[in-house]
Amino acid sequence: MHSFEELSAAFTERFGNRHFPSRPASLYDPADYFLGLGGKRIRPLLCLMGNELFGAIEEDAWQVATAIELFHNFTLIHDDIMDKAPLRRGHKTVHEKYGTSTAILSGDVMMVVGYEYIARVQSPQIRRILHLYNQTAIQVCEGQQLDMDYESKAQVTMDDYLHMIELKTSVLLAASLQIGAILGGAGLNNQQTLYQLGKNLGLAFQIQDDYLDCYGDATKFGKQVGGDIVAGKKTFLLVKTLELATEAQRGAIRRLEQAPAAEKIGGMLEIYHSCGVDVWVKDLKEQYRAAAWQSLEDVAVTASRKEPLKKLVDYLLQREY
Ligand code: IPE
Ligand code: IPE
Ligand code: MG
Ligand code: MG
Ligand code: MG
Repeated sequence: MHSFEELSAAFTERFGNRHFPSRPASLYDPADYFLGLGGKRIRPLLCLMGNELFGAIEEDAWQVATAIELFHNFTLIHDDIMDKAPLRRGHKTVHEKYGTSTAILSGDVMMVVGYEYIARVQSPQIRRILHLYNQTAIQVCEGQQLDMDYESKAQVTMDDYLHMIELKTSVLLAASLQIGAILGGAGLNNQQTLYQLGKNLGLAFQIQDDYLDCYGDATKFGKQVGGDIVAGKKTFLLVKTLELATEAQRGAIRRLEQAPAAEKIGGMLEIYHSCGVDVWVKDLKEQYRAAAWQSLEDVAVTASRKEPLKKLVDYLLQREY
């Protein structure tokens, strides 16, 4: 068994090797640039931990973990174009540094190289794994489209929001765990329980991400603080505020829609705060954290094997970046 720290270091080392040819540099340098900026690498860790719950980590799990991290990075490059985000991991986003067309193509090639790693899987379960991987990727696209549709949709309910973040964020965490478990020979019950764990963890994780986008420490968070407000994203902060706001606050929100970015951010943060955002974020995160924790309890393996995953859950929900 490996600890959380050991697995994290081992994956970082393996993933650090080059994934792309050198030419044309104009395509591959931007991809290398982005991977070189790091990131928490939590999805591959979930795959490896899901695998190690059931035995020694297999070579196949390393290949899929690599594919998943490439896929995730591809989605971030394209997400930053869609969200017009200038900063990621404390540095310029790919489209800011190299232009949008190059960012699209570098993202595309990264996704395809991900499939090359999937193609190395030796397990007879490869068809099931590929199917789950593809279904998940389709769901991420659906979630990303809903995220954009909601920018201009007047009525977005909390259920709409939860559905959207489940698709854009949670299913990838869930599938990472499940694929690791499939490769480890887990039974269907354990696979499904782990999928649920990932789903609830992902919801709590995106709720935390929305909160940090507003109230995070810019130097730690590495993204533009207030970016969601400027982009008009229907985050849970906005959805909840619109549920609770007084008429006067609604009026203020409408006026702020036309305001310059800095004023809009400052004004919205104040309204969120006065509507009690700090309390809801705690409650909501706790609700999904508890559900994730319960799933982990329900996984039918010896308790000591679950320790690294417990640590990962705690680490993710306390993150400041
Ligand atoms: C960012 O994911 C996108 C979301 C789903 C919130 P991460 O916070 O895992 O990004 P990195 O890979 O660690 O930078
Ligand atoms: C991103 O959601 C989800 C995906 C990339 C699929 P966000 O747009 O909130 O992620 P960040 O905040 O840019 O990392
Ligand atoms: Mg974004
Ligand atoms: Mg986005
Ligand atoms: Mg975000």
